Amino acid sequence: MNNSIQVISKYALEGLNSQALNDTAMAAKQTLESGSGAGNDFLGWLHLPSSIDEQQLQDIERSAAILRQECEYVITIGIGGSYLGAKAIIEALSDHFAPYKTGNGPKVLFAGNNIGEDYLYDLMDLVRGHKFGIIVISKSGTTTEPAIAFRLFKEMLEKQEGKGFAQRNIVAVTDAKRGALRNLATQEGYATYVIPDNVGGRFSVLTPVGLLPIAVAGFDIRALVAGAVEMEQNGDEQVLNYAIARNALYQNGKKIEILVNFAPRLHFLAEWWKQLYGESEGKTHKGIFPASVDFTTDLHSMGQWIQDGERTIFETVLSVGDQQHEVVIPTDEADLDGLNYIAGKNVDYVNKMAELGTRLAHIDGGVPNLLITIPAVTERYLGQLIYFFEKACGVSGYMLGVNPFDQPGVEAYKKNMFALLDKPGYEEASAAIKAKLNS
Ligand code: PA5
Repeated sequence: MNNSIQVISKYALEGLNSQALNDTAMAAKQTLESGSGAGNDFLGWLHLPSSIDEQQLQDIERSAAILRQECEYVITIGIGGSYLGAKAIIEALSDHFAPYKTGNGPKVLFAGNNIGEDYLYDLMDLVRGHKFGIIVISKSGTTTEPAIAFRLFKEMLEKQEGKGFAQRNIVAVTDAKRGALRNLATQEGYATYVIPDNVGGRFSVLTPVGLLPIAVAGFDIRALVAGAVEMEQNGDEQVLNYAIARNALYQNGKKIEILVNFAPRLHFLAEWWKQLYGESEGKTHKGIFPASVDFTTDLHSMGQWIQDGERTIFETVLSVGDQQHEVVIPTDEADLDGLNYIAGKNVDYVNKMAELGTRLAHIDGGVPNLLITIPAVTERYLGQLIYFFEKACGVSGYMLGVNPFDQPGVEAYKKNMFALLDKPGYEEASAAIKAKLNS
């Protein structure tokens, strides 16, 4: 078995690769590594894996052990980059039905990633009367969604279990000095972890933002970091393959990249990837639109469009080698369902044939295909995948000619929302938006 993820561009690049593109990619990689490009004050993630030391890991594991010992539930509060990485890794590694099973250690649940009143009500209802802890994550410390959720669950926990329990079982992950959450954590005496200044939200999964919830969920953060170190040290060939292929396709009119998985446990990895690439590249009216599908489920809904719709898409398939468990299709004497032709085969064998058949059909239908092979869904290979996607994103963004490390466009909706909510400081915007609505 290969011990690393691989990018295979055989069915993506026919006739598209050029020396000029390779040169652009090498220049972009050089810009990234030398720290000479736009957004270079946000490159802390680049050598992050190899800089994580034993003491940091032990410290995170110690905090996780306290939460695991004292709590039935741990609510991880955060949004965007302060949410998706942990969610993606925990989902990828967990039993699919963990929420319905009693298991070892607390259940890690998520809040502050939406403003759904019923969602919050249902979650509060679930943890009422149970011992729970909170990991509240916000780099700015001022984001509205997690701030609302934290206010609700902090009050509930203090009333339910008392101030002492709440203080022991609330951990804040935020900026070293700035922001409302930092001030609140200092005042309340919570344990805290720092999100480094030079690591942006969507690149922060290998900081305590991701590592703490992942450790609380019972997964091996050392193996995750070790996998990322492997890519940091040996991943450049794969990084360049991916960055070159997607830019070649984009220049050739393929404006949408669909990240495809055939493993339900990878659904949220695609959500994390969409934020990473969407927020990094979608600027100055440029950038591939990152989309995702879960196959074979979505072959029965989106399959028609992908096979036959507008030819502006390409696919990147995440192909997993080994499954964790074996399920064999039984023989049935009567064979009323006509399935005996696959009796004795593993379910995953059928899935692999579906994957190959789908790829070939889509290639025939004019959808270029990139393949990323992952030996198995383990901490180590997920660590590799995270770092690989991060570095490829930096290189790809510079190839495209954007600053991959800012996100000016996410402020526009906030300004309108605050104006509509009459937030102090937004009086002028409030008057303007109300005039516009009434005109
Ligand atoms: O990647 C980003 O920068 C964003 O998605 C942020 O992570 C997200 O908006 C949450 O911000 P914060 O961590 O400041 O609450």
